[in-house]
Amino acid sequence: MLKFLNVIEQTKIAINKTTNLDVLEFLKVKCLGRNGHFTQKIKTLRNLPPELRSKKYKIINKAKKEIEELIFQKRNVLQLMSIDKEIVDSVLDISLPGRKPSIAGLHPITHTMNRVILFFKNIGFSVVYGPEIENSYYNFDALNIPDNHPARNEQDTFWIDTTYLLRTQTSGMQIRVMQEINDPPIMVISPGRVYRKDYDKYHTPMFHQIEGLVVDKNISFSNLKYIMSNFLYDFFTSIKNSIKIRFRPSYFPFTAPSAEIDILLKNYDWLEILGCGMVHPHVLNNVNIDPKIFSGFAFGIGIERLAMLYYDITDLRLFFENDLRFLKQFK
Ligand code: DAH
Repeated sequence: MLKFLNVIEQTKIAINKTTNLDVLEFLKVKCLGRNGHFTQKIKTLRNLPPELRSKKYKIINKAKKEIEELIFQKRNVLQLMSIDKEIVDSVLDISLPGRKPSIAGLHPITHTMNRVILFFKNIGFSVVYGPEIENSYYNFDALNIPDNHPARNEQDTFWIDTTYLLRTQTSGMQIRVMQEINDPPIMVISPGRVYRKDYDKYHTPMFHQIEGLVVDKNISFSNLKYIMSNFLYDFFTSIKNSIKIRFRPSYFPFTAPSAEIDILLKNYDWLEILGCGMVHPHVLNNVNIDPKIFSGFAFGIGIERLAMLYYDITDLRLFFENDLRFLKQFK
């Protein structure tokens, strides 16, 4: 018994001394565990006469309680110490330089849109926005685009059902605007997203257009030419000192005569940049505006085209990959 009590005393000293939770755990197992000192000692009492056994048992039990209490106290102390240490170690160093919030910039397409919108606003156009999910009546029928026109093809158009589609052009807004403001003068632009099944260096399935429409008495092609030329000179002369533009005869079902405007910039060949023309009498009739009294012109500007030329970018897809290394250059 003396030897046992001696071992227990040694253990108490070790518990008091340790500053390490793992060591404490180890001592606990060695003492109180299934094969620990106490279990071993109690086993040896089995063959003793009952009275002696109960006397020794009491002594052992008392020592066990003391050890348990000691371990409990010590564990609390060590746990608190470890929390304190963690707090001290992770203390905030207010002398370190802070992290700068990185300030976002406008997307180059947004920036280009804004510049175009601003030009037209400044000369008196109002701005209207329309739905991207469009009725085929506005996207095609009312624009004099016949049923068998290739643009309606499943291969080009994202149809939602037999009536609705993702608009392939902002031109449908001409109809919505003329239905709403049935009484010219009308001078509006309508910016927005359009969708086509197309994907290569020069095409993405979603892109941006700005539609323009002017309707009044005595509107002629020279009005169209004047405004479009001024717009392009204004848009490009801030970066390039000389540009050339040309009007090339073209065809759109909703304008007659129709033209495309090509632009010649340094280091490029002639590039088509927008479509335009005099509003077709059928289109005016479709919205109950009398083509004998009123005439108008319309235009559709491809924003990505402008942005590519303006920023000198050769692959359109870069605009939509959201690579920050690319986008950060336009801040
Ligand atoms: N909607 C045509 C397109 O997406 C562009 C266009 C051409 C718009 C002539 C017009 C226009 O308003 O008059 O290709």
